[in-house]
Amino acid sequence: MAEFKIERLHADLGARLSGVDLSAGLSVLQLNEIYDAIDAFSFLCFPDQTISDAIQLALTRRLGVAEAEHVTLGKTGKISYFGSVGNINDDGIQQGNQHQDTRFQSGNHLWHSDSSFRYQPSYVSIMFPYEVPGEAGATEFVSQRAAYQRLNTAEQSAYGKMSVIHDYVFSRTQTAPVDFCHAASLPPVKHPLIRTNPANQMKNLYIGSHARSIVGLDGIESRRVIDQLLVDTTRPQHILSHSWQVGEVVIWDNRCVLHRGTGYDADRWRRHMRQTRVVGEHKGVL
Ligand SMILES: [Fe+2]
Repeated sequence: MAEFKIERLHADLGARLSGVDLSAGLSVLQLNEIYDAIDAFSFLCFPDQTISDAIQLALTRRLGVAEAEHVTLGKTGKISYFGSVGNINDDGIQQGNQHQDTRFQSGNHLWHSDSSFRYQPSYVSIMFPYEVPGEAGATEFVSQRAAYQRLNTAEQSAYGKMSVIHDYVFSRTQTAPVDFCHAASLPPVKHPLIRTNPANQMKNLYIGSHARSIVGLDGIESRRVIDQLLVDTTRPQHILSHSWQVGEVVIWDNRCVLHRGTGYDADRWRRHMRQTRVVGEHKGVL
């Protein structure tokens, strides 16, 4: 790529891109190279950036349509484009391990693709860390594209005919209660088990903790298939572990990446990261 210096981070996914100032506004050439890099590497890290909420939202909108954050939307009906990840509230106050907001965010410790439970799931998430713990708090990423490629052809063919129900309440009630209005705003949705990248035609699994059941299979068989696929997708050698650094922008491709938080001591450390998402496409289901 002409515009960036690229360093690969893992055999399956991930690249560090340097040589661009994201706050300066992207040229068409730079924007197209970022699109290409998302398609190629699935996870991008841009170090040494100076970002504000306004700049982050402008960057988000340069990449597509900003996604309304579902927690605020579901609970209040109000549109916000930012989610705060960490343990710092809107007044800048640190919230400890037992605070309900911290416990609620522990749902992010399950492997997931952001907004896979929405009719139009996310294209990418964009994260900017302002404060990070002095120890722990990494986020792990795996490629569902590489996982698909590890399947044999019979499995690829069989899974290519399946659809999956994604259900936010199913997944998140495993770790904390979901507000009733929020739950009512997110009815279960159906997505193909295998997705195809429209630019490069690469196929990938599309599962994660929100994936509840497979259409046409009973509950026991659904869980057997989904759970085994998740185990195989997330084996340690497939994981890119990312330790957050203040001043970096990270973009990941929710169409083909799963991620999970690994936890940190919220009593001891402050963690404040701002996340936006770009709306993706609803794919036809079988
Ligand atoms: Fe997430």
